[in-house]
Amino acid sequence: MKKITKAVIPAAGLGTRFLPATKAMPKEMLPIIDIPTIQYIVEEAVQSGITDLLIITSRSKKAIEDHFDINVELECALTKSGKTQVISELRKISDMVNVQFIRQQEQKGLGHAVYHAKTFAAGEPFAVLLGDDVVHSEVPCLKQMIDVYEKHPGTILGVQTVSYDNISKYGALDCSKVEDRVYRVKDMVEKPKKEEAPSNIAVLGRYILEPEIFDALEKTKPGAGGEIQLTDAIKMLCESGKVYGYDFIGRRYDVGDKFGYLQAMVEYALRRDDLGDVFSEYLKEIISSL
Ligand code: UTP
Repeated sequence: MKKITKAVIPAAGLGTRFLPATKAMPKEMLPIIDIPTIQYIVEEAVQSGITDLLIITSRSKKAIEDHFDINVELECALTKSGKTQVISELRKISDMVNVQFIRQQEQKGLGHAVYHAKTFAAGEPFAVLLGDDVVHSEVPCLKQMIDVYEKHPGTILGVQTVSYDNISKYGALDCSKVEDRVYRVKDMVEKPKKEEAPSNIAVLGRYILEPEIFDALEKTKPGAGGEIQLTDAIKMLCESGKVYGYDFIGRRYDVGDKFGYLQAMVEYALRRDDLGDVFSEYLKEIISSL
């Protein structure tokens, strides 16, 4: 079986939920403390065995390309001031992985963005990690999914159970259990109303896709919001019986949502060796003074 070594990060969305911050700055560059969101996602991919990465960007996302490039002027200035440790930190980012970029010229939806990866995938299975979904876990989320793919080759969707009040934000699965944490997907509904949701098992920003997805995307008509939905293309593959949902172990944050971003910022700060204790004391103090 072909090992999964390629991953795609769609990061071309408009980020309208985070305006005005995202008017001139990509939402994927919003920092969780001092590390841009997309860097956490690239690190997860690398720790999962990915060697080649394609980031789908757009006109207003040049900062993402610059972040994964070498900044010669900055390195010269840091050398002059003796901050060589910082230079190696910065180099780590550009040396992390072989990364390519492609632009989605019009924001016609996630399915349309993923279609841009057809040449990059070159007939191989590949992973998709959404540019605004961060997962904190012991075993990287994508690594868990690759392990499931090796046992159940097909399309693997990263899922978790959410409350029925929240299901309308996600794609919901109509599925049956295959084994612990693994479901066979019969159908999916994108952003269903609470009372119409087939389950509260939601698709959350991580996918393993096979090359058949591109034929399905070619046949996919614009759906919800006039966008070409990845969910609609995956639905076409369900008949094969090889679409699985995997309930991954980890805490997931939707950094493209204001509350999700706040949760990520607070929880990552509490976990940090250099900030955790002092920040925890500070939080206790302000909460007790309310
Ligand atoms: P979202 O719906 O979360 O992103 O898409 P958005 O459209 O940027 O956000 P809001 O709702 O307006 O705030 C999920 C993922 O798909 C990418 C986004 O960048 C995000 O990673 N995406 C979405 C694209 O790359 N292209 C698109 O046309 C749409």
